Amino acid sequence: MSAISTVLLGSLSSGDHVIAQRGLYGATLALLADLAQRWGVEVTHVSGHDVEEMRAALRPNTKLLYLETIGNPTTRIADLPGLFAVAREHGVMSVVDNTFATPVPCRPIEHGADVVVHSTSKYIGGHGDALGGIAVFADRERHRRIRDYSCQLGATAAPIPAWLALRGLRTLSLRVQRQCDNAKLLAERLSADPAVTAVHHPSLESHPDRELAVRLLDGGAGGGVLALDLAGGREAGRVFTDALRLALAAVSLGDVKTLVSHPAGTSHRQLDERRLEAVGIEPGTVRIAVGIEHPEDLWADVRQALHKVH
Ligand SMILES: Cc1ncc(COP(=O)(O)O)c(C=O)c1O
Repeated sequence: MSAISTVLLGSLSSGDHVIAQRGLYGATLALLADLAQRWGVEVTHVSGHDVEEMRAALRPNTKLLYLETIGNPTTRIADLPGLFAVAREHGVMSVVDNTFATPVPCRPIEHGADVVVHSTSKYIGGHGDALGGIAVFADRERHRRIRDYSCQLGATAAPIPAWLALRGLRTLSLRVQRQCDNAKLLAERLSADPAVTAVHHPSLESHPDRELAVRLLDGGAGGGVLALDLAGGREAGRVFTDALRLALAAVSLGDVKTLVSHPAGTSHRQLDERRLEAVGIEPGTVRIAVGIEHPEDLWADVRQALHKVH
């Protein structure tokens, strides 16, 4: 979040307008809401999938476009090339959070981003034991300016987490490849289970952004996160998550260990059904941030937990 805060605070002034995707990571949305309330920054939310909607949202004072490559937890993919092209045409700076995708299958600067941010606490660190973040710049001058600002804010990485992030980079491509393969296998098998009403993963032909996934995620590697909707709703989500033995019920992602979360029972438990629906989450939605375990061990665990909700 300090990388994201530095980029936003270091780029925006009162009176600027931001176009931001709906359903961003909660703390990013809260930061934008705070900038709107206390700094007089205007924010318009868009789907991230519709170039015409983005054009309609543009104002003379639009300064920044903010997207996430893969949305949480429904794994919708933002139309990075389409929206970045409109931003460029209008002199608007494009920022994208590529944490869920990682630079292994997706490098947004190749698609026109000006700044790419990553929480290195996730896939880059890879072991769930170090907090950190980075911002990657397409432009040297912008990098220099925002780097200087990060020193003023004190948003500087501590040495040991920085070292752990760099060490994580050495195995990033192997881990992410395995996580994508494991996620694809789970997505395919879960799709055939009667207790599951929908599976969300960009590797599936049924995914609403499948064509974008093929273009943006190195031929359709869908990332390591998938979501499933359990027919039994909130109670089934709780039973399923509690029954897992190999996977761990925890909110983070990008760990070598599979982490499973049930938003309606944990991070989003304060939302009623109507408000859950507004953020694209069903009472029985479960997110699986797949690790690098043996795929059959992982499937055996998921299958035994599913039996508890049949
Ligand atoms: C997409 C995304 N961006 C940013 C963050 C913030 O990361 P950190 O907790 O390392 O500040 C998260 C954390 O879950 C995230 O999911």
